[in-house]
Amino acid sequence: MIVLGIESSCDDTGAAVVSDSKEILGEALQSQEEHKQYGGVVPEIAARAHLEHIDEIVALCLQRAHIELNEVDAIAASCGPGLIGGVVVGAMTAKALSLALNKPFVAVNHLEGHALCARIANNIEFPYLLLLVSGGHCQILIVKNVGEYERLGTTIDDAAGEAFDKVAKMLGLGYPGGPMIEKMAAIGNDARFTLPRPLLNSGDCNLSFSGLKTAVRKIIESYSSDGMIEHVILPKQDVADICACFQMTATDCLVRKLERAITYFKQKYPDGEHLVVSGGVASNTYLRNALKNLAQKNGLEFAAPPIRFCTDNGVMVAWAGLERYRLGYTNDLDFKPRPRWPLDEDAPKAPGAGGVKA
Ligand code: KG4
Ligand code: ZN
Repeated sequence: MIVLGIESSCDDTGAAVVSDSKEILGEALQSQEEHKQYGGVVPEIAARAHLEHIDEIVALCLQRAHIELNEVDAIAASCGPGLIGGVVVGAMTAKALSLALNKPFVAVNHLEGHALCARIANNIEFPYLLLLVSGGHCQILIVKNVGEYERLGTTIDDAAGEAFDKVAKMLGLGYPGGPMIEKMAAIGNDARFTLPRPLLNSGDCNLSFSGLKTAVRKIIESYSSDGMIEHVILPKQDVADICACFQMTATDCLVRKLERAITYFKQKYPDGEHLVVSGGVASNTYLRNALKNLAQKNGLEFAAPPIRFCTDNGVMVAWAGLERYRLGYTNDLDFKPRPRWPLDEDAPKAPGAGGVKA
């Protein structure tokens, strides 16, 4: 069984073909550079760029897979959540191919793409505990099965990746901020500034990063004579120290809430074996190491997608599409792309109920 997946929900145009034997037969990815000058993704520019590149990305991926379009068994696309202009481009492309080839269409929740992605490269059984940390989302979930999620906590303000991006912007490190912060943090002193850990004692698994970001802003402001952080030029070592403190504190907030989540997970699912991290921020090696230690301390196996599949890509969509398709979950062509699509709302329906049995 092979499935073509298309990703276009933010600023990456991706396509991939994967097989049920976990082979990535071909993939292509174009990360949009157009947004760098704006310090964040501009939705209209993103949508136009997806439109411009999607056909060639799909063609390139098939060429690399050495297959013809009519050899795929199903066509999947990220149909939300995300920037709706881009989502529509991917969804329409997949629907058009599905119609022309008479092959089933699978509407993939982009978050489910992140959630299931680690299963391609690792042997991970359900249920598992998942930290999903991307530019738009920050959630702790139990993945009970394909389409079955229990959300234990979420951010009440900024997503983790968003906080990395905003801090990087304040420090003049460019967009996306995560990779640059990680690089600078490696040469910084993480004990130099004490930053707040919001919601630490809230008694739940929710997170908050906006206070952390504001604390960083205050440090930068303290270097300014006119209170305008745009006018501040920080010495490189100070930037590195701020990055190290921010990365360490953000990681600690995630670890502390995961400790609580692990207790609950182990009580409710004593057979669950894995702690998994996914999403763009999961590319961060400092975070991966902290989670590896946390898992080890709690008798769980740690797993994550290979670093290049943590940020948005076609493989995660093709794989989630394949996992859905082989269970019989396909969608009608009138499926409406969804700018908002909470993962725990997506309980699978019996094949045929609202979807079409494959
Ligand atoms: O999953 P993703 O590609 O897009 C969304 O679905 O949002 O995640 C992008 C986010 C950005 O906020 C980016 O700064 C962050 O992932 N990111 C990182 C790293 N690489 C990417 N954050 C921390 N450390 C990294 N190495
Ligand atoms: Zn994503």
